[in-house]
Amino acid sequence: MNHKQNKGMTKSVTWQNFQQHYLDLPELGIALDTSRMNVPDKLPNELGILFRNAFQQMQNLEKGGIANPDENRMVGHYWLRNPELAPSKDIQTVISSTLEKIQNFVAEIHQNKIQPQKAASFRNVLLLGIGGSALGPQFVLSALGSGTDSMQFYYIDNTDPDGIDQVMASIGKGLGETLTLVISKSGGTKETRNAMLEVRDVYEKNGLDFTKHAVAVTGANSQLDQLAAQENWLDCFPMWDWVGGRTSVFSVVGLLPAALQGLNIYEFLAGAKKMDEITRSPEVSNNPAALLAWMWHHSGRGQGEKAMVLLPYKDRLLLFSRYLQQLVMESIGKEKDLVGKKVNQGLTVYGNKGSTDQHAFVQQLRDGTDNFFVTFIEVLKDRENKSLEVEPGVTSGDFLQGFLLGTREALFQNGRTSLTITLEEINTQTLGALIALFERTVGLYAFLVGINAYHQPGVESGKQAAGDVLELAVKIQHHLRSHPEQKFTATELADILQKTINTETVFQLLLHLAANDRVQKFDASSPFSTNFQAI
Ligand code: PA5
Repeated sequence: MNHKQNKGMTKSVTWQNFQQHYLDLPELGIALDTSRMNVPDKLPNELGILFRNAFQQMQNLEKGGIANPDENRMVGHYWLRNPELAPSKDIQTVISSTLEKIQNFVAEIHQNKIQPQKAASFRNVLLLGIGGSALGPQFVLSALGSGTDSMQFYYIDNTDPDGIDQVMASIGKGLGETLTLVISKSGGTKETRNAMLEVRDVYEKNGLDFTKHAVAVTGANSQLDQLAAQENWLDCFPMWDWVGGRTSVFSVVGLLPAALQGLNIYEFLAGAKKMDEITRSPEVSNNPAALLAWMWHHSGRGQGEKAMVLLPYKDRLLLFSRYLQQLVMESIGKEKDLVGKKVNQGLTVYGNKGSTDQHAFVQQLRDGTDNFFVTFIEVLKDRENKSLEVEPGVTSGDFLQGFLLGTREALFQNGRTSLTITLEEINTQTLGALIALFERTVGLYAFLVGINAYHQPGVESGKQAAGDVLELAVKIQHHLRSHPEQKFTATELADILQKTINTETVFQLLLHLAANDRVQKFDASSPFSTNFQAI
């Protein structure tokens, strides 16, 4: 489209332009429409060169090259849905045998051959994990859940004591029928470790042996792996160093919960495999992942200048924005490129769902700062059964589609760009394909902008910083306890403990300890002169 011609006129996409930018994938029941992204009809030459390089690098990655150089690791999530592609017989075998192990274990749970300590059957699953070890299963299970699910799921994905209490209260008396999955690739993540200790304590307080209800999913020889073996947990499933956390939904991390819920994991894998085949095409115009990567690059000028707002018009896809937020931002948000140059790359992702957000942030999208592009997700099939007509000839689903098409048009008329992914329906296969589409998009985009999508140095440094804070909290308590008669201000304690210590951190730690009745607090005229003493 010639946008200069359109200046001052109402913008709309012509039928011809729409056809030119509409990619239909009937074999998957998915279509991609990029006609409202204001890209040229043909891929610019300089991007063509970048894409050739990206496809080559993706090929190397899939063949088992070290695609995560900082951690010296292969990146093998594509092998999970097509083990034949794995670079060694050992990897091929372990993928297939693990799939079989999942099926057998789940059959035994569903048939009550594996039983809880004091009940006839496992009816609930409590999943403990964080980040890549929780978001994938949470998203998939909520997207595909139904009234006929085999088991009821609960999640703890944080170290928030109150959050843990809420989940345990909602399980309530069902704890004796609850299977707890502890998922951590590294097996040492503190949030998950804490959740495990807290949950174990609740089992014990209810006269139940945690180990008779627990399953671990973790890397070989991790702390978690060793604990599960020592204590003879119900089972332990592997995670491999060639699968990254945020791309682990097709490994045991996602497949075991999905199978326990009663989903067909083979269809889920088949959808991803089919999408992988399509997105291996080096022809950008026929490759939906390459097209998306081009849109991201075009929109943010290869610098992530615009955020991606995800608006699925489907309640089932509510968690997709959280899932993609992690997949995209943890992969693309990097300080340095592959040759060590400071680039501060990123692509902001946020969203929720339509039409709900038309009564919230969509106002700003239409009229406020133009710093985003929208990814609409449309699902054609409204529901399993026939719909009620809420007005003559009109169903609730017609309204949902009307709101999507209307909003998209209103945004475009105000110069706001968007693309639309249309799914015929949501099922295990289309969901597998949708996730695989974004995994490949992230991979290609990362190669276009020259970064390592598969490490997370920022997350690691956050963990290190938290460790230092905790050490300080212990020192503070120790000092107060060894001077039980004395009161101290934050400044005094910071001086005593170590000259280089940040007084503000000491102050914050003391406030938290006092709020939880672990030290006494004596208010003063200024908060900074507050005194603290051991209890
Ligand atoms: O994507 C990632 O690598 C992270 O989000 C991890 O999944 C997260 O930190 C949890 O790690 P782990 O599975 O080792 O407990």
